[in-house]
Amino acid sequence: TGMFTYDPGFTSTASCESSLTYIDGEEGILLHRGYPIGQLAEHSSFMEVSYLMLNGELPNSQELDEFSRTITRHTMLHEQLATFYRGFRRDAHPMAIMCGVVGALSAFYHDSTDISDPHHRKVSSHRLIAKMPTIAAMAYKYSVGQPFLYPDNSLSYTANFLRMTFGVPAEPYEVHPAVERAMDRIFILHADHEQNASTSTVRLAGSSGANPFACIAAGIACLWGPAHGGANEAALNMLREIGTPDRIKHYIERAKDKNDPFRLMGFGHRVYKNYDPRATVMQKTVREVFEALKVTDPVFETALQLEEIALNDDYFHEKKLFPNVDFYSGIILSAMGFPTTMFTALFALARTVGWVAQWNEMISDPGQKIGRPRQLYTGPTERDYIPIEKR
Ligand code: CMC
Repeated sequence: TGMFTYDPGFTSTASCESSLTYIDGEEGILLHRGYPIGQLAEHSSFMEVSYLMLNGELPNSQELDEFSRTITRHTMLHEQLATFYRGFRRDAHPMAIMCGVVGALSAFYHDSTDISDPHHRKVSSHRLIAKMPTIAAMAYKYSVGQPFLYPDNSLSYTANFLRMTFGVPAEPYEVHPAVERAMDRIFILHADHEQNASTSTVRLAGSSGANPFACIAAGIACLWGPAHGGANEAALNMLREIGTPDRIKHYIERAKDKNDPFRLMGFGHRVYKNYDPRATVMQKTVREVFEALKVTDPVFETALQLEEIALNDDYFHEKKLFPNVDFYSGIILSAMGFPTTMFTALFALARTVGWVAQWNEMISDPGQKIGRPRQLYTGPTERDYIPIEKR
């Protein structure tokens, strides 16, 4: 003991070098490969951001076309996997299905185990990004008892996902352009976030040389937790439970009470001690989607008022707790027709790009080592075994 730095939760440990994502938590800045998240969300597309994360630069139009075609080529799942889905209970959480199905992909792509070959790594990366919408949509279809829809590669990445989720074979499905745009933007906002818990999990799993499908399955498992990706589901459930603005005060008091485990879901962040720049875009997108679909949701008013009350409260002010990316995302997803249980699955779909980019960066790093933290031992000192009759 004493030889190691004790850093529970890794609040002051840099686990790697990375050129992918930069966060300044004090200022509320998030950059991917140098580009501000606000600009990417406004002007870019999820395919373009995926290319940027994997290749380091924004693509020209020929490169983007080629990349989109490459991804498109891998959107189908092995037909055998449909049988795999049918082994789950219908009420299985989509994240449980995602962990299982993504992990199972390694049983289909044996070339993925050769991670020393950059070509194989690239193909596995493309497969993961391409298949994730199909996997998530099938998890949804299975839960509602509708037939699986095959991908339609004439559509964009995001439109194809929406069709596989909400379309049925009986009638044509028209993707609402505003919904497609909002969905794509939500994917961009979730694409990467440096060394968060699930990304660190992917890196740690990958550091042993495990295949990429197994590593991403580990990331999905970690993302599921309510302190991480599961917060989008928890935040909307919380807002619905609060219901009307007159009940906000009560929940604020509960969040401040040290003896009450309740926290405001969608609030606070390990790194941001200022407004999460993703939440700003998300809040704006709620309005756009409501307008386009000509719907409203009283929960949005509750969320806006909750935010205002919290930001003017000493407790939240002193602890620098602001809305994070997940505070408003659920309201949009719900308006689009997604059940709350799908929210974290959508996060996983988008974060796959970050996970894959980080995994590739790690494997190509010549200084890469197996992740192996040490500990401060607090158990008994050495003692002799006592035979059972003497205990
Ligand atoms: N409501 C009430 N109090 C809070 C909250 C909250 N949402 N978040 C933090 N605090 C308090 C906490 O009680 C602690 O108080 P004290 O110093 O008196 O013990 C202080 O603020 C610091 O909190 P912490 O738990 O030590 O901070 P952390 O960096 O370990 O946790 C967090 C960060 C995101 C897990 C936490 O803020 C939280 O649980 N938030 C709610 C869940 C959530 O929205 N998660 C999504 C994060 S963004 C999407 C993603 O990256 O997945």
